[in-house]
Amino acid sequence: MLGCSLWGSAPPTPTGEKRGAGWLEPLLLLLVVVLSGWVLAQQTADCPGTCDCSEAARTVKCINRNLTEVPVGLPRYVRNLFLMGNHIQNVSSASFPPETLLELSSLNLSGNRLQWVEAGTFAGLPSLKQLDLSDNALLELSPMALGNTSSPLEELNLRNSLYNNSYVTAVAQLLQQEAFLNLKRLDLSENTLLYLPQGMFAALHSLQHLDLHNNSLVSLHGVTLENLRQLQSVNLSGNALKRLRNSTLLQLRGLPQLTSLNLTHNAWVCDCGIEDMVSWLKESDLVEAKSSLKCSYPKGMENRSLVAIDFSELSCPEPTDNQTQLQTSYVFLGIVLALIGAIFLLVLYLNRKGIKKWMYNIRDACRDHMEGYHYRYEINADPRLTNLSSNSDV
Ligand SMILES: *[C@@H]1O[C@H](CO)[C@@H](O)[C@H](O)[C@H]1NC(C)=O
Ligand SMILES: *[C@@H]1O[C@H](CO)[C@@H](O)[C@H](O)[C@H]1NC(C)=O
Ligand SMILES: *[C@@H]1O[C@H](CO)[C@@H](O)[C@H](O)[C@H]1NC(C)=O
Ligand SMILES: *[C@@H]1O[C@H](CO)[C@@H](O)[C@H](O)[C@H]1NC(C)=O
Ligand SMILES: *[C@@H]1O[C@H](CO)[C@@H](O)[C@H](O)[C@H]1NC(C)=O
Ligand SMILES: *[C@@H]1O[C@H](CO)[C@@H](O)[C@H](O)[C@H]1NC(C)=O
Ligand SMILES: *[C@@H]1O[C@H](CO)[C@@H](O)[C@H](O)[C@H]1NC(C)=O
Ligand SMILES: *[C@@H]1O[C@H](CO)[C@@H](O)[C@H](O)[C@H]1NC(C)=O
Ligand SMILES: *[C@@H]1O[C@H](CO)[C@@H](O)[C@H](O)[C@H]1NC(C)=O
Ligand SMILES: *[C@@H]1O[C@H](CO)[C@@H](O)[C@H](O)[C@H]1NC(C)=O
Repeated sequence: MLGCSLWGSAPPTPTGEKRGAGWLEPLLLLLVVVLSGWVLAQQTADCPGTCDCSEAARTVKCINRNLTEVPVGLPRYVRNLFLMGNHIQNVSSASFPPETLLELSSLNLSGNRLQWVEAGTFAGLPSLKQLDLSDNALLELSPMALGNTSSPLEELNLRNSLYNNSYVTAVAQLLQQEAFLNLKRLDLSENTLLYLPQGMFAALHSLQHLDLHNNSLVSLHGVTLENLRQLQSVNLSGNALKRLRNSTLLQLRGLPQLTSLNLTHNAWVCDCGIEDMVSWLKESDLVEAKSSLKCSYPKGMENRSLVAIDFSELSCPEPTDNQTQLQTSYVFLGIVLALIGAIFLLVLYLNRKGIKKWMYNIRDACRDHMEGYHYRYEINADPRLTNLSSNSDV
C-alpha cells in the first residue's frame, strides 16, 4: 500500500516515457529494498503470542502465562524481559541463545518454580545488569550460569530462591566467578541460611548492598567482609545472631563506605561474651535504630536494650561451677566405692568361720602336697635307688 501510494503520487515526468523508464527502474528497486526491509523488521520485531511487547519501552512482558519455557522469537530490541509467575523449571543456554538478545539488561524470572539453572544460561546476554531469580526453588545452580568471563551484572536477587539452605554452597561457588566483579546489589534474604561458607563474598569487590534479612544465621564467624571496600549497607535483620565478636567488629570498622547496618530482630545473648559488641554499639553510628536491639537471653535480661546495658550486669556461668560439679561427682564416686568396700568386709566377717575352714583345708592340702613332693625328692636323692634304676636299665 505504501508502495502503491508512492507510485500513484509520483509526478508525471515532463521529459517523456523513454527517459522515464531509465529512472523508474532504480526507484522500483529502492522500493523493493525498503519494503523488504520493513517486512524483515516487522518479522524480527514479532512478539511471541503469549507476551505483550512494547518497542517504545523496549519491554516484553509474559507474566502469569503458565509458560514452561522461555518463549522463542523474542524481539531483538528487548531490554526488559518480564517472565514472572510462569512454570519455567529449567533454563539453559538454549533458553537465551547467544547473539539474539544483545540489549537485554533486566531479566525477571521471579516466581517460576525454577529448579535448574545450567552452565552458560545467561552467558549469551552481554548487557545483563539486573537478574531476579527470587521466589524459586533452585536445586541446581551452576557456578558457570553466567559463563566464565566478565559480565556487567550489577544486581542479583536470590530472595527465597533456594530449594533449601544446603544450596548456599552452590551460591558461594557462583559468586567466586569473574562475572560478579561488577555486582553492586545482592539479595540472599529469606533463604533459611544457617551459615555462610567461608569467603563467600570475598570476590565481590564492587558490592554496595548486601541483604541477608530473614535467614537463620547464628554467627558471622569466618565471614569475610574486609575486601568489600564499596559496601554501604548490610541487612541482617531477622536472623538468630547471638553476638558479634571482635573479629567481625574489626572488619565492620574497617569498611570505609559502610553507613547502614540493620541488626534488628536477632536473639542477642547478654552474657559477658557480648561486652565487646555493646561497647562498639555504644560508640558506633552505623547501626540502624540501635536502641531497638534487645537481649533475648539469659533469664532476667530479656527485652533489655543492648545500648542501655551496664557491664556489671553481664555475667557468665562461673567457670568454677564446672569444677565444683566435677568435685561433687568425685565425692559421690568415693562414697560409692567406700560403701562397696564396707559391704565386702561385712561379707567376709559374716563368713569368717567358713573362711577359716576353707583356709585350713587349703593348708592341709598344701601340706599333703608338700609332703608328697618331699618324699619324691628323697627317693630321687637316694644314690642307692638311683643306681638300682640305672642298672636295671642296662
Ligand atoms: C494457568 O493455569 C491455571 C490452572 O491450570 C488456569 O486456571 C489459568 O487460567 C492458566 N492461565 C493462563 C494464562 O492460561
Ligand atoms: C530439567 O532438567 C533436568 C536435568 O537436565 C531434567 O531431568 C528434567 O526433566 C528437566 N525438567 C523439565 C521440566 O524439563
Ligand atoms: C520481579 O518481579 C517480582 C514479582 O513481580 C517483583 O517483586 C520484583 O520487583 C521484580 N524485580 C525486578 C528487578 O523488577
Ligand atoms: C570458558 O568457557 C569456554 C567455553 O565454555 C572454554 O572454552 C574456556 O576455556 C573457558 N575459559 C576459562 C578461563 O575457563
Ligand atoms: C536439601 O535438599 C536435598 C535434596 O533434596 C537433601 O538431600 C538435603 O538433605 C536437604 N538439606 C536440608 C538441610 O534439608
Ligand atoms: C521475616 O520473617 C518474619 C517471621 O517469619 C515475618 O513476620 C516478617 O514479615 C519477615 N520479614 C520480611 C521483610 O519478609
Ligand atoms: C576485643 O577488643 C578489645 C579492644 O580492641 C579488647 O579490649 C578486648 O579484650 C577484645 N576482646 C576479646 C574477647 O578478645
Ligand atoms: C535492610 O536494611 C536496610 C538498612 O539497613 C533497609 O534500608 C532495607 O529496607 C532493609 N530491607 C528490608 C527488606 O527490610
Ligand atoms: C531493618 O530490617 C527490617 C526487616 O528487614 C525492616 O523491617 C526495618 O525497617 C529495617 N530497619 C531499618 C532501620 O532499616
Ligand atoms: C519481652 O517482650 C515480648 C514482646 O514485647 C513479650 O511478649 C515478652 O513477654 C517480654 N518478656 C519479658 C521477660 O519481659
